[in-house]
Amino acid sequence: MDSSKYFATFFTLSLTLLLLSFPCEGQLSPTFYDSTCPNALTTIRTAIRSAISAERRMAASLIRLHFHDCFVQGCDGSVLLDQTSTIQTEKTSLANNNSARGFNVIEDAKSKVEKICPGVVSCADILAVAARDSSAAVGGPSWTVKLGRRDSTTASRSLADSDLPGPFDDLLTLLSKFSNKGFNAREMVALSGAHTVGQTQCRIFRSRIYSNGTDIDAGFASTRRRQCPTTGGDTNLAPLDLVTPNSFDNNYFKNLVQKKGLLPSDQVLFNGGSTDSFVTEYVNNPQTFSSDFSAAIVKMGDLSPLTGSNGIIRRICSAIN
Ligand code: HEM
Ligand SMILES: *[C@@H]1O[C@H](CO)[C@@H](O)[C@H](O)[C@H]1NC(C)=O
Ligand SMILES: *[C@@H]1O[C@H](CO)[C@@H](O)[C@H](O)[C@H]1NC(C)=O
Repeated sequence: MDSSKYFATFFTLSLTLLLLSFPCEGQLSPTFYDSTCPNALTTIRTAIRSAISAERRMAASLIRLHFHDCFVQGCDGSVLLDQTSTIQTEKTSLANNNSARGFNVIEDAKSKVEKICPGVVSCADILAVAARDSSAAVGGPSWTVKLGRRDSTTASRSLADSDLPGPFDDLLTLLSKFSNKGFNAREMVALSGAHTVGQTQCRIFRSRIYSNGTDIDAGFASTRRRQCPTTGGDTNLAPLDLVTPNSFDNNYFKNLVQKKGLLPSDQVLFNGGSTDSFVTEYVNNPQTFSSDFSAAIVKMGDLSPLTGSNGIIRRICSAIN
């Protein structure tokens, strides 16, 4: 090998090693906007707080929206995109159609952030911050949000249909859907504790309250039947946590032990199966639930983010630029 070829090989190798030593994924960081938009986080928080003081349930809706974003092609704001000739909106997927809400609150926060720093802060990051601010606003845990996600130019209704868990999924199906995203059983149970806040519709819990099953408290079923007739009233709401529907606490788990989980997918977490022990632990130790939930939702926020030169910063969250 002559010396020029030797050096060419040497430099190619060195360059490869150098590139490999950099995190190509582009790491998320809590300080990502510190120099480019120092007031981003307070601007988002103000918008989220005002929406929650107008309607307490909004906290729940926003936490759910971040989850539904991250489980479908990663935390990339795809859940926020409307239908176009090239975009298959996720808003009409099985889990989201006539159910996911809070889009206008995220859009409002985005427009306020655009006013102070145009083209800088992604919709995916706003969703992640909104979920944290929502939890904190209703007495739940707070956590440090990592930032630097960029927004997708695509959405996928078919991935939303396949990857999001459904209320009639059995325990093995739920475990496998969470395992596909890197979560173990304990993390899944912790994350499900988000059902300590928010509401669900009669059409979704009807079959369970009329099942006469041995896995539902009879008095609880009869109470829920009053606002959820066998036919009609499909969109009537009931709280996922009957005791403290507006505060983020560990009551959801206490309900499960009493067979008062409202969704079938709630009660399967405590019905003599492999996840019972986690439920019991969170009943007995609210602090463990709080820290496990925070750790798991931070991990959820790390799901396949678009970073660096991938993706875009959308000007509005519902459409690509
Ligand atoms: C374990 C699998 C899960 C299933 C099957 C599931 C399913 C559901 C269903 C069916 C609803 C009610 C929708 C309606 O009636 O319109 C709901 C609501 C909700 N979900 Fe889940 N969910 C799961 C996990 C999670 C996770 C991991 C989170 C967040 C970390 C979450 C947060 C919420 C919240 C906060 C609500 C209330 C939303 C509102 O009031 O607008 N869920 N979920
Ligand atoms: C979503 O719900 C609407 C009713 O509000 C219905 O007309 C539409 O067919 C549903 N979309 C899908 C994809 O199921
Ligand atoms: C549950 O019990 C009620 C009253 O005994 C009965 O009318 C109803 O048909 C039962 N439902 C099912 C799904 O078996």
